[in-house]
Amino acid sequence: MVEYAEASAPGKIILVGEHAVVYGAPAIALPVSTVRVTVSVTPAVGGSGITFRSDAGGQTRPLDLSEDSRDPIAQMVRSTLSCAGVSGVDFSLQLNSQIPVASGMGSGAAVSTAIGRAVSRALRFQLSDEQLNQLVYEVEKLHHGTPSGIDNTVIVYEKPIFFQREHPIRSFLVSAPFVFLIADTGISAPTKAVVDDVRILCQRYPSFVGCLIDEIAHIVGAAHDALALGQEDRLGALMLSNHALLQTLGVSSLELDVLVSAAVSAGALGAKLSGGGRGGNMISLVHREDVDVVTAALLTSGAVRVTSLLL
Ligand code: PMV
Repeated sequence: MVEYAEASAPGKIILVGEHAVVYGAPAIALPVSTVRVTVSVTPAVGGSGITFRSDAGGQTRPLDLSEDSRDPIAQMVRSTLSCAGVSGVDFSLQLNSQIPVASGMGSGAAVSTAIGRAVSRALRFQLSDEQLNQLVYEVEKLHHGTPSGIDNTVIVYEKPIFFQREHPIRSFLVSAPFVFLIADTGISAPTKAVVDDVRILCQRYPSFVGCLIDEIAHIVGAAHDALALGQEDRLGALMLSNHALLQTLGVSSLELDVLVSAAVSAGALGAKLSGGGRGGNMISLVHREDVDVVTAALLTSGAVRVTSLLL
């Protein structure tokens, strides 16, 4: 009943609109297909249950598939099995990941997506992207508390998206090659804590935070047009404005600000933090001929890793 199967899912980066997207503003996210999570499912002997092993270390462990388990891996396996109407199967899951954890590159959603695809393939069950997106979103709640749904959506569909809560998913036109550099501060920053802090700020100063959210929404709309029209300079300026608003929202950090300044000083057209903030990654837009010099500047200014992304 269970066959050997494998599946993978990409990382992601938010181009503009993080945090505001939690409050219903739009945001733009891009898949990062060069860094991936791969999951394989291998049938196991009857009665051995479902076990999990990761290349990140740790021993093979049995998964607790009970409904009240808070383990995101176990929850994703449980919900995929239940969607397929299957129980009492035995297999082992092996996970290999190139995506850094808690760094704004969607590691959690990519792990869930790859698990859902690998397990459904192993069961020869056709899981649609729509179903998978819903299952991954439910598991995202264990990671993030109140996720907007942007991470799971961009990762499951693996294409650039213009995302807004409660709206149909929109992919969009990009009319020129855009080259981005993604730099990791190496500081892990759990998104939930930062999202919670923004919520507290919002409760305390609703009109102030409301103005910031409106400004960010405006930037996202303009960034969408800049991508469609191939306007690099305009997109770069919008990224910088977005970063300034995120600083005001209190979600940047010294390390992120240093990387943003370093990128711009080295010739980037724009740069900003990406994702939850306070650590994790930033993204910069560069001319193709400036890739090497901006990469070097980012690395000498504290980045532990620089990944390029061509759109
Ligand atoms: O998972 P991260 O760190 O890329 O953050 C997701 C973006 C937020 O807007 C901060 C949260 C959300 O759920 O949209």
